[in-house]
Amino acid sequence: MKDRPLILAIETSCDETAVAITEGDRVLANVIASQIELHKRWGGVVPIIAQRAHEENIEPVIQAALKQAGVELSAIDFFAVTVGPGLAIALEVGLVKAKALASHYGRPLLPINHMLGHIYANLAKNRHGHSSIEKIEYPAIALLLSGRHSDLVLLTDKAAPRIIGRTLDDALGEAYDKVARMLGLGYPGGPVIERLAREGNPKAFALPIPMVNSPDYNYSFSGLKTAVLYKIRDLKADGLELNRQQIVDLAASFQEAAFASIAHKLTRAVQDHAVKQVWLGGGVIANTALRRYLRARLRPLGVRLYYPNLKKLCTDNAAMIAVAAYYRWLDGDRGQQPDKIDRQPTLSFDSH
Ligand code: KG4
Ligand code: ZN
Repeated sequence: MKDRPLILAIETSCDETAVAITEGDRVLANVIASQIELHKRWGGVVPIIAQRAHEENIEPVIQAALKQAGVELSAIDFFAVTVGPGLAIALEVGLVKAKALASHYGRPLLPINHMLGHIYANLAKNRHGHSSIEKIEYPAIALLLSGRHSDLVLLTDKAAPRIIGRTLDDALGEAYDKVARMLGLGYPGGPVIERLAREGNPKAFALPIPMVNSPDYNYSFSGLKTAVLYKIRDLKADGLELNRQQIVDLAASFQEAAFASIAHKLTRAVQDHAVKQVWLGGGVIANTALRRYLRARLRPLGVRLYYPNLKKLCTDNAAMIAVAAYYRWLDGDRGQQPDKIDRQPTLSFDSH
């Protein structure tokens, strides 16, 4: 086997049908069919709608990726697929397809943890061979913020990734989506709140900074979301709808409290574990205000902050799954018999 194998990866854990082709860690194609329009009217992802859309999209997306990469299926050295965490019936679509391809072409199939993918997105190289992280220095911490997770993961060269902190209730992306819904801003909430917050005053409303007094590395965003809800109720008490200034101020104040909580636990974990690098991952990391905020908080600690070099690598995509698979391959993982691989909707790092 060559040292830079051709990999085809499939990711269908939530609402994006994604297929990527990489040569080792170098991305040749990263195609995503987004279902945002389909789920918008429901204010969130509806599993059965996601499953049907994956079924419709998977084949055309595979073909588009092959065409973009200029690669034939028969040239693929091995396949990779997200097995979890995610929506069971959505995961199943990608898994069935990946198993069929691996069996048909007699190639290995590597089952990959979606969250490991978000971590490895930082190591994805573009066509010129550049990635966000050029040199890994351990110990590192990955901060993974998505619609489903808010995890602090300790990375060392000695052991498997270990979650040292997580959200006790809502994920940060979920809180963004819920707050956006309360403000009548549609779905997904992250990008629209980020945009409106730029016009708002982050000190306009004093919202509680979650979890600053807890001694662990955990997060909690459900109380913050409820605090926004009460603020909206107070403001509407006179029977009037919120005006634009109130909406942008609420968006900015919500972000301010969330960022402060994220940074508080992150900086504590960095100090406690003598961390050298912080890697960001997940859809919320597309938020440039959050990146700026964290960079400012980490600078005095002498710690470098990294995030994937394209927004497309922050939100769900399959290039990150291919790159994670490549690193497992370098570690000697040669996959499993396709018929032994099953979806794992609640997969965590401990199982990898
Ligand atoms: O990682 P991802 O694409 O899917 C999951 O695995 O959940 O993350 C999606 C989440 C959504 O909750 C969305 O509102 C949030 O990421 N998001 C953002 C931004 N872009 C997407 N949150 C804050 N700011 C953004 N710019
Ligand atoms: Zn994700």
